[in-house]
Amino acid sequence: MQDRYEPFIDGEFVTTKGEVFTSYNPSTGEAIAEVARGTVELIDQAVRSAHAAGPAWARTKASERGCILLKIAAVIRENAEELATLETTDNGQAIGQARSDVETAARYFEFFGGGADKVLGETIPLGPDYLSYSTHEPFGVIGMVLPWNAPLNQSGRGLGPALAMGNTVVIKPAEETPLSTGLLAKLCVDAGLPPGVFNVVPGFGHDAGAALTAHPLVRKIAFTGSVETGSIIMQAAAKRLVPVTLELGGKSPNIVFADADIDAAVAGAWAAFTAKSGQVCSAGTRLLVQANIYDEFVDKLATRVRAATIAPGIDNPDIGPLATRAQFEKVSGYLKLGVEEGARIVIGGGTPSDPALQAGNFIEPTIFADVDNSMRIAQEEIFGPVVCAIRFDDEAEAIAIANDTDYGLAAGIWTRDIGRAHRVASQIESGQVYVNEYFAGGVETPFGGFKSSGIGREKGFEAMKTYSQIRTVTVRL
Ligand code: NAI
Ligand code: MG
Repeated sequence: MQDRYEPFIDGEFVTTKGEVFTSYNPSTGEAIAEVARGTVELIDQAVRSAHAAGPAWARTKASERGCILLKIAAVIRENAEELATLETTDNGQAIGQARSDVETAARYFEFFGGGADKVLGETIPLGPDYLSYSTHEPFGVIGMVLPWNAPLNQSGRGLGPALAMGNTVVIKPAEETPLSTGLLAKLCVDAGLPPGVFNVVPGFGHDAGAALTAHPLVRKIAFTGSVETGSIIMQAAAKRLVPVTLELGGKSPNIVFADADIDAAVAGAWAAFTAKSGQVCSAGTRLLVQANIYDEFVDKLATRVRAATIAPGIDNPDIGPLATRAQFEKVSGYLKLGVEEGARIVIGGGTPSDPALQAGNFIEPTIFADVDNSMRIAQEEIFGPVVCAIRFDDEAEAIAIANDTDYGLAAGIWTRDIGRAHRVASQIESGQVYVNEYFAGGVETPFGGFKSSGIGREKGFEAMKTYSQIRTVTVRL
């Protein structure tokens, strides 16, 4: 760990003398680093560096850009333990999950590195007198504003397709978790990425984030985070008519039919709401269970919850702390609200009693049963290890409840009936549907939201389309 973390601009950590802010370890509450606070001037410097690096990067052969991304994947893997430890220290998540995020980041560079020279244009049949063809062109500088739940994973997810398609990037990481993104930028340059192609300016949303989204040289904005901030970002983009990709929240249904493999569904339901202590946009937080197995299912899930380990992230527990104090307060508020609304706490519902955990942002994994879908705990994103168990009688009711939400990010279906699986999947209003494994998919599978959960798609070949624009050339022969 360094004492002071600086912005990474034009291939190096720059030396700043201005204001700093503190990053904390959410497992212990301890201050771990001072971080230079991004200003309008630093954002401008970073965007100008990315703008200057843009033409040469865009003209680099796609296969050569791809090779550099493959080298970045290798360098990430060589430095995996340092990256994972830094991530866990800053964000709190279990080190096993941080290791998995580091590997996922490497996979993004690998997948999009391999894809860089495989995005093909079209020829358009206008008859014998014309030749008309389309090419995928970069936008230029892409401004990315990212959240605190999975910094390396989300950085890789955006950088992979953006760089593969010849764009340059400035990332403003979340103020709560700024450390790993700077190290990633340095590793990218070590791997051969030209200076300026990827810059990082840590800082707060209302100044550094807003300055990035308002900068006239930023030609596309990619944001992951809350619906509220997503709307503000889209308004900033609207002023300058630049496109946005928005990856926002969710309140995803995880539907268990009576004919499912119940033990597999219990294990899946547990993972769906406790991965990263529930701080996952696609978490399965509304557990819809068919009425005739509801009690048995909730009992079995409670047995799994009872066995959960809760500890500092570095000890690789099932449940680490929430990444921010504000999130701890927010989730605590929802635990009280659920009781006021008449839901029944089956297990959890508070903070662990272990004296060693009192300074960290720990919340017990919690099952609310007898939840009605109209309750606020069933409609609002809690973003903690909290699941709402809701009864349904038949397929039609399950689909109606699943879709009765403003969100539309993900859904799980557990059934042995293949006809039902596809019938239900086709009627769920969400960008992802997982059948018989929650979170099934990978860097290869397009990811994004219906309804208020977002705009555009990350991951998969689809992302290389959203990080490029089409030029059509038509020639009169
Ligand atoms: P947020 O959406 O406000 O923060 C995300 C990023 O946006 C941070 O980098 C922040 O600095 C930046 N930002 C904030 N205001 C901005 C502005 N005016 N202009 C430009 N950038 C700005 O999220 P917050 O407040 O940290 O968390 C609130 C809730 O959002 C959480 O409780 C959770 O429900 C949800 N959330 C969803 C995530 C997801 O993966 N979809 C990730 C993190 C939070
Ligand atoms: Mg921190």
